[in-house]
Amino acid sequence: DDQGNKFLRLVMFGKPGAGKGTLSARLVKKYDILSISTGDLLRQHILERTPVGRQAEEIVAQGKLLPDEVMLKIVSSKLDHLRNKHWILDGFPRTVGQGELLDASLAKQGTPLSLVVNLNVPDDVILSRISDRWVHLPSGRVYNLSYNPPKVDGFDDETGEPLTKRPDDNPETFARRLNQFYASTSPLLEYYSNTTPSPRVGSQLLETLSGTTSDEIWVHLDALVRSTFPNLKESATSLE
Ligand code: AP5
Repeated sequence: DDQGNKFLRLVMFGKPGAGKGTLSARLVKKYDILSISTGDLLRQHILERTPVGRQAEEIVAQGKLLPDEVMLKIVSSKLDHLRNKHWILDGFPRTVGQGELLDASLAKQGTPLSLVVNLNVPDDVILSRISDRWVHLPSGRVYNLSYNPPKVDGFDDETGEPLTKRPDDNPETFARRLNQFYASTSPLLEYYSNTTPSPRVGSQLLETLSGTTSDEIWVHLDALVRSTFPNLKESATSLE
């Protein structure tokens, strides 16, 4: 039977700071979906000083990208365990090479991508957000002093542990990450607009959502996910 349409395979695409992590977290909270953030995975490796972490530390701090094969290994070891789950990828693929590797590995599993969401937020909006971003490194939870501040200033809502700034969030490195996006990542938009249509009848795999606030984008994203997967279950906690 048509396995390919049974599980949500969503790529959350966008510039650094576009809101990929924030919007993925909202979907995970509302629905029975898991999210994999390669940025969070790398930060975890760096914290734990694994071999990957030692390789990643300098590259991430410089705002450059890790090699495609390293990233594929990290991602596929996670995806192998999630064959029967709905999932979101946040931060992967980030090059056309990664996009091709992902497509090949999903083709083997018989579950192709269902949706690629392109979060289109202007550069100046993003630059001002980043200076307000604080993170809880162990969990990847993201806060913003003006948009979604923590309950207690400077501390994580769930653990009470202190929040920190990401080392790659200083203006200089951030500018480099944005350039890296235009050079290496944005060609994926072309790649996805040329691939076969999505499982939704009469619609495209690639959907662009524009807006300057995530609340604005959230309404569209939620509707899009529902129309792609009408039977998606809401998680128990979302009804609180
Ligand atoms: P990664 O962690 O993936 O960084 P990124 O793509 O640069 O994305 P960000 O995490 O900065 O932003 P986001 O889009 O998730 O936005 P957020 O929701 O936080 O990767 C880090 C590094 O790892 C890379 O630079 C690279 O070196 C390496 N790496 C990762 N993946 C790789 C790969 N596949 N290949 C090679 N290397 C890889 O939102 C941003 C801020 O805005 C937050 O403060 C948030 O609260 C706030 N915000 C969100 N929405 C709104 C709103 N509507 N209004 C106001 N503020 C808002």
